[in-house]
Amino acid sequence: MNEITLQVNGTPHKVAVDDTTLLLDALRRRLGITSTREGCGVGHCGACTVLAAGKSVSSCLSLAVHYEGVALTTADGLPEDDPVVSSFVDSDAMQCGYCIPGFVLMIKELLAENPAPSDKEICDHLKGNKCRCATYPEIIKAIRLAAKRSAL
Ligand code: FES
Ligand code: FES
Repeated sequence: MNEITLQVNGTPHKVAVDDTTLLLDALRRRLGITSTREGCGVGHCGACTVLAAGKSVSSCLSLAVHYEGVALTTADGLPEDDPVVSSFVDSDAMQCGYCIPGFVLMIKELLAENPAPSDKEICDHLKGNKCRCATYPEIIKAIRLAAKRSAL
């Protein structure tokens, strides 16, 4: 085991990992950051998405040691008045909510790169994220609202 420092939502956390510890396990099991969900575990659902220096990564496929010192963002690190977070709430874009942190972070990434995405660009960007509750219409509504709020 080695001790590394993960920068999560602006706060440094020391965590003991070995060369095979997944970023997902370092965040959830060692640091207790449960907004990073564990779904499929093989890169197919998007539930475990985090942002690393603003870019989305599947934490279930990523080794923690590769992220020492990288600015990580998890959904619980976003404020309630964040345009994407507030748009999900105001659009009722969740049922069980399990997939939502991953969607929120993917949309943060998308709108940072492309403030006015087309429907196709939204679908392309979210093709790796699955919602078992099929809340897709509300999620699309939330994205449209978030784009408007982010532009203000
Ligand atoms: S848990 Fe990582 S993509 Fe599904
Ligand atoms: S809201 Fe339940 S999995 Fe998406």
